[in-house]
Parts: sequence; C-alpha cells; structure tokens
Amino acid sequence: MTTHPQLENSIDIEEQYQVATYKKFPFVIERGGDVWVYTTSGERYLDLYGGHAVVSTGHSHPRIVKAIAEQAERLIFYSNLVYNDARARAAKKLVETAPEPLTKAFFVNSGTEANENAMKIARMLTGRTKIISFEGGFHGRTPGSVSATGLPKYRQNVRPLLDGHVYAQFGNIESLEGLIDEDAAAVILEPIQSMGGVRMAEPEFYSALRKLCDDWGAMLIYDEVQTGMGRTGEFYFAGRNGVVPDMVSVAKGIASGVPMGAVLMTDVIAREIKSGDLGTTFGGGPLACAALEATVDVIRDEGLLENVRENSKYLFAELRKMVKLVEEVRGLGFLVGIKFPSGTAKSVQQGLLERKIVTGLSDDPDVLRLLPPLTLRRPEIDFFLDALAGV
Ligand SMILES: Cc1ncc(COP(=O)(O)O)c(C=O)c1O
Repeated sequence: MTTHPQLENSIDIEEQYQVATYKKFPFVIERGGDVWVYTTSGERYLDLYGGHAVVSTGHSHPRIVKAIAEQAERLIFYSNLVYNDARARAAKKLVETAPEPLTKAFFVNSGTEANENAMKIARMLTGRTKIISFEGGFHGRTPGSVSATGLPKYRQNVRPLLDGHVYAQFGNIESLEGLIDEDAAAVILEPIQSMGGVRMAEPEFYSALRKLCDDWGAMLIYDEVQTGMGRTGEFYFAGRNGVVPDMVSVAKGIASGVPMGAVLMTDVIAREIKSGDLGTTFGGGPLACAALEATVDVIRDEGLLENVRENSKYLFAELRKMVKLVEEVRGLGFLVGIKFPSGTAKSVQQGLLERKIVTGLSDDPDVLRLLPPLTLRRPEIDFFLDALAGV
C-alpha cells in the first residue's frame, strides 16, 4: 500500500476551512472497496457504518462506477423540464421495488427533502395542518423535518419550529389515539427508529396505525430513509405486517452514495398533485438516476436481500450469545442496535476503532449501531465478532 503523506494534512485543512459540525474519526479516508475503506496512512478499516447507511452496494462497486461514468460521458444533468432516458428507467426501477399500491415516484436529493415533500403533500391534499410523529424519531434538519423529529436535542436551537407538529409515544397506540383527529393530515414515522437507538414496535402497532389513519382520513408516511433499499432484508419495511403506507420517503442508499431521495406514493395521491405543486432543480438528475438504476440491479443480481437476511440472522444469533458483554440486540437485517451496559457504547466504539472497525453511535448512549453495506458477509462478521469479544 502506498501512503500519501501530503493528504495527511487533510485533517488540518478541513478543520481550518470547514464548519466544525461533526466530531470526526481521526483518519483520512482515501478510497474504498466493498466493505472496506482505506486511509491515507495505508490502514484498512472494516466499514460497519456504511457512511451512515448510505453505501448500500459496498464502496465503489464496479457496476455503479461504470454506470456513473457512462452516464457522465453522455449527460451529467438536465432538469425536469425535459424527458430523459436515465430518469425514465430509474423511476420505473424504483417503483418496481415498492409494494402495491405505491406506484409513483417524486425524485429529490436527500432524506429531509423527501420528508418535507411528503408532509407538504399530505397537508396540501387533506387541507389539514396537524402532523403527528413520534418521540425518538429522526426525520432531518430542515424546518418541517426537524419539527417532526421527536428527539428534542435536534429541535432545541431551531426557532421557530413549524406549527402543527405533535408527538406520540412510539409503540403506544393509545397515545396516538389521544392525538389523532379531524385535523390530522398525516402520521409520519421511522418504522424502526434508528438514531433513537434502533427501536422497533410490535407488529400490531403498525396495523393499528394503518387503521387509525384510515378511520380519521390521515395519510400514513413511512420515513424509510434508513430502512429502505434493502437494509431490512426486503426492499422496504412497507408491506411488512400487511401494512402499506400512503407514502414512503427514501434516500441514503438508493443511489449507492450519489445524493438522491424520493417520495414513493400511491396513484390516488399522485393524481391529485398538479403541475407546479412540487419542484426541484436537481431531483431526478440523470447522474443520480443512473446510480439508482445500477443500485437496484446490483441488489437484485447479487442476491443482496437474501444476503442481508441470511447473514443478519447469523450476526444476531452470535451477538446474543455474548451475554456477558451485550445486553440486547435490536433491529432487523443490517440495521442493528447493540445495547451495552449503561453508557459504554462510546468506549466500545473506540475499542473497535482501535481494532480497525468503524461503527456508529446513536442518541441512546448505551446503543452502538451497525449500518454496513448490504454486501457484508460471514468472514467480515466473524472479524467483527472476534474484535468485539476482545474489546
Ligand atoms: C430516518 C431518517 N430520516 C431522514 C434523514 C435525513 O436525511 P438527509 O440527511 O439525507 O437529509 C435521516 C438522516 O440520517 C434519517 O436517518
């Protein structure tokens, strides 16, 4: 491995010229391949964080690279004012991954934008204002999404928050019953609360949600920015427990790291949206669309949903054997929360980093998160389990 000392000072340069909004890992990533990333000082790390659940098909998958390169040579960008072959293929591909009756897509560029648009559509079409979300949920940083975010930490310095947002208790249907009424435009939730500590509700909660929304004429929105595009071992959480929401927000992994988001919705909703109601310059750009198309193809052709199901079963079972170290293992597929005795997740993360493994924290100081590429396989899982046992 060659080293590039001149790039080492990227740390100093970023610190000097970038706003310090993140506490960063103390190394410079120069390149990646599959589930590995490589630093400028020649070290290799196992990436169980996946660039925050983004690198769905692994780092720089050759088919994604080829698709992007070929598209860039033909056409990097044109706006939504013209038809484009890459956008056409991407829209069809994305819709084909979604359960019926989610048959239409609106492309944007990020998770927060997908949520903003989903909530806007709900308010616009119902003529109502109230949005019900859940304590512990995270939906993004822009005004509407942060107002729906149920983790107070993210809302505290945002003034003013948007009107009309109320928060129910996740997993508690009575708490939702107390808030839903004839002014409820939508109920929005992360079906698995990731940032909140990888919390999942009982199956009956999701079906009760669907019924309550139907009874009151409110739209049900799943924020699948993390759970979407295969992370749970299916393309979406939507469809699980027999529940399909009216809209699904997706982003993160849908284009393997090229910025892209989308709102998937029913035909009934799409038909009510008029020309000019929604808009975006970059959403649905050809480059991102080419990356999305290749991402779906790779997930299907390489059997990555099956891989997630099979290897997560192994990972969960092995973690649950570590009874002295691990208190609880939560989540689904490759969205994994490992609960350690009080407040120790950060020191476990540090110990793993020393053993050349990157993992994520959450807003629960006891919970370490794993959000690896969907390509993670058993030898790397064993490498992680050995490292964890040694921490
Ligand atoms: C569940 C969920 N929704 C929305 C967002 C916001 O996505 P973005 O950062 O792309 O705006 C995130 C980001 O972490 C997320 O985890």
